Amino acid sequence: MSYPIIFLHGFPFDGSSWDPQLEHFKGKYQTFAPDLRGHGKGPAGPGPWMIAHYADDLKIYMDEMKIEKAFVCGLSMGGYIALHFTASYPERLAGLILCDTRADADSNEAKDKRYATIRKIHQEGTQQFATDFSKNALGETTRTVMPQIQEKVQSMILNNQPQNIAMVLGALASRRDSTPYLEAISCPTMILVGTEDKITPPDVNESLAKKIKGSSFHLIEKAGHLSNLEQPKVFNRYLEDFLKIHNR
Ligand code: MLT
Repeated sequence: MSYPIIFLHGFPFDGSSWDPQLEHFKGKYQTFAPDLRGHGKGPAGPGPWMIAHYADDLKIYMDEMKIEKAFVCGLSMGGYIALHFTASYPERLAGLILCDTRADADSNEAKDKRYATIRKIHQEGTQQFATDFSKNALGETTRTVMPQIQEKVQSMILNNQPQNIAMVLGALASRRDSTPYLEAISCPTMILVGTEDKITPPDVNESLAKKIKGSSFHLIEKAGHLSNLEQPKVFNRYLEDFLKIHNR
């Protein structure tokens, strides 16, 4: 019996950012890509929101969907959530795929940047933020060769309520350092990262992989921070190979 795969999207996107994976794995595995709290059609209750709440949301989602155990694949913020979930609910995890992410918390400088962005969003909305963020997230190659991906990313961002984006920025800034929990991870784990990722660069992901016993690590050429969207074929191949070994 194979386990379902739950995909956790990055900030500030939505479940549709996993469309190339949902399409590829259709009929092979049971897949889920929920819109997370404050994103897309995801719930948005009273704040403040913490990454810990997102991990609890995932547990509740699994209970509701009657999923005892799953492979969890998280990109960037999805990876922060997956790591938090792993520490809180290890018995619910069959395997872990971490993409373009990191274990450590924000530096003071990164926190200050988030606070400035929150202020700017409250004053101006998200139009400029969507342009800047999508530019920074995508690799140079994607922006040159596949500009339509930037349009998709921008429209995902603009679909979210500005006040929700601001709330999630608070959750990101206040997340804990997951590094101390890495050595306890015992499920099959794979780490993927785009070579052109400027937000969570390859060396950050490689050092994450080194701290997780038995994990595998792969670089995805010609992809930035959104490696699953930018190079879906290569991404899907790595994921498929991993699942063939560990999800049977
Ligand atoms: C993401 O893609 O989820 C964000 O870039 C995460 C972050 O800003 O830390």
